[in-house]
Amino acid sequence: MKTKLLDARLPREGSLEEMQTMRKRAAAAIGEAADILKRGGLVAFPTETVYGLGGDALNPAAAAAIYAAKGRPSDNPLIVHIAQRDQLTQLTGCVSETAEKLMDAFWPGPLTMIFKKKEAVPDGTTGGLSTVAVRMPDDPVTLALIRESGLCIAGPSANLSGSPSPTSWEHVYNDLNGRIDAILQSGESRVGIESTVLDLTEEIPTVLRPGWVTPEEIGAVIGGRVEMDPALFVNRPRDVSAGRDEQPEIRLLEDCVGPAPKAPGMKYRHYAPKAEMVILQGSQEAVHREAKRLAQEQETRGKKVAMLLFSDEDLAAAAKTLFSELRRCDEEGVDFIVASAVEASDSVGFAIMNRMLKSAGYHVVTV
Ligand code: TXA
Ligand code: MG
Repeated sequence: MKTKLLDARLPREGSLEEMQTMRKRAAAAIGEAADILKRGGLVAFPTETVYGLGGDALNPAAAAAIYAAKGRPSDNPLIVHIAQRDQLTQLTGCVSETAEKLMDAFWPGPLTMIFKKKEAVPDGTTGGLSTVAVRMPDDPVTLALIRESGLCIAGPSANLSGSPSPTSWEHVYNDLNGRIDAILQSGESRVGIESTVLDLTEEIPTVLRPGWVTPEEIGAVIGGRVEMDPALFVNRPRDVSAGRDEQPEIRLLEDCVGPAPKAPGMKYRHYAPKAEMVILQGSQEAVHREAKRLAQEQETRGKKVAMLLFSDEDLAAAAKTLFSELRRCDEEGVDFIVASAVEASDSVGFAIMNRMLKSAGYHVVTV
C-alpha cells in the first residue's frame, strides 16, 4: 500500500497570499483524509499529545485494520476521538455530572475518560471491554477532520506497537509508511506524552494512565477524591542502591508482583528504544558525575552512547522531547542511553517517569 502524505500544515505567519494558499491546501488535505476514513481506511492525524492512527470507531473492519497496521495486541482497547460533545451519545448512555464538569474544564485537551459503552461500539474497538475511552483532542486539523468525516475516530498512538509514541509526522512515516492509507502532515505535538486516562466507571474516578492533566487538577474540578490505579505504583521498580564509592550495579529489575493494570495497554513493554537504557537517580551532581563515568566506560567498550539529562525545572520540555530523543538515538545507531530520572513526586514528573521506566525496561540505578 502506498501511504499518501497530505499537507495540512496551517500558517503561522507569512503574506496574506501564502497564508491563503496554505489554508486551502490544508482544507483539501483534511477533505481527502475524511473521505479515506469514511471508506474505512486509515489516516494518521496530529494531536497535542502525540500523533494518532485513525479509523472509523464504529466500523469493526477499520478497527481491525488499526491493530494490524500497528502490530498491536487485540486486547488493548483504542481511544475514540470526538470533536463535539453530542457525539458522545453515539458511544455511551452514561455521562455523569462529574464527567460534564471534567469536559468543561479539560476538553479539548489531554484527558481521556472511560464510560460504559453502548452496543453500537464494536468489541473490536474496545478490545472486548464493556467500556469505551473517549477524548476530544486539542488540535485544529484533527477537530476539522472529525467534523468533516462526521465520524467518531478510533486512534491509538501512530507508532508500531512497542516503539516510542510519535510526536511528528516524520516519526509516523518512519514506523507506518506502506502500512496505512495516509498521514496528515502537521507540526510537532506540543505536550509530547499521551493523555491522562481516567476511569469514570468506578465509584471514585481513577487514573489508569498518568499524563499532562494531573490528579490534583482533576480533584480540584470535581471537588472530590481521585484514585490512582495501584498498579502504577507496584509496577515501579524496587530501589537499587549503590554506595558512593562502589561501582553502581546495573540490573534489570524483575517485574513486581501485584495487581494487573486496569488499562490493558499499561502492561505491555512500551516506548523501547533499540539501545540499552539506564536511568540514574540521585542529586544532580551525582547523576552527572556517574553519567560521565558510565559513558566513558561504555565508549571504551566501543559502544555509541547518548545522554538524556532532563531538568526538574522544566518538566514540560522533558515531556515534549522524551519520545523524539529516544527515536533520535535509534536513528543515530546509539547502543547505550544514560538518562537522568525526573522528580516523580511531581505529577507531571510521575507521568514522564512512567514512560521512561518502560523505555529502560526498569533499569534504574540510584547514585
Ligand atoms: O494522547 C493519547 O491518548 C493518544 C492520542 C493519539 O490521542 N492516544 C493513545 O492511545 O495514547 P493508545 O491506544 O496508544 O493508548 C490508549 C491507552 C491504552 O493504555 C489502553 O489500554 C487504554 O488507553 N484504554 C483504552 N480504552 C480503555 C478502556 N475502555 N478501559 C481501560 N483502558 C483503556
Ligand atoms: Mg500507544
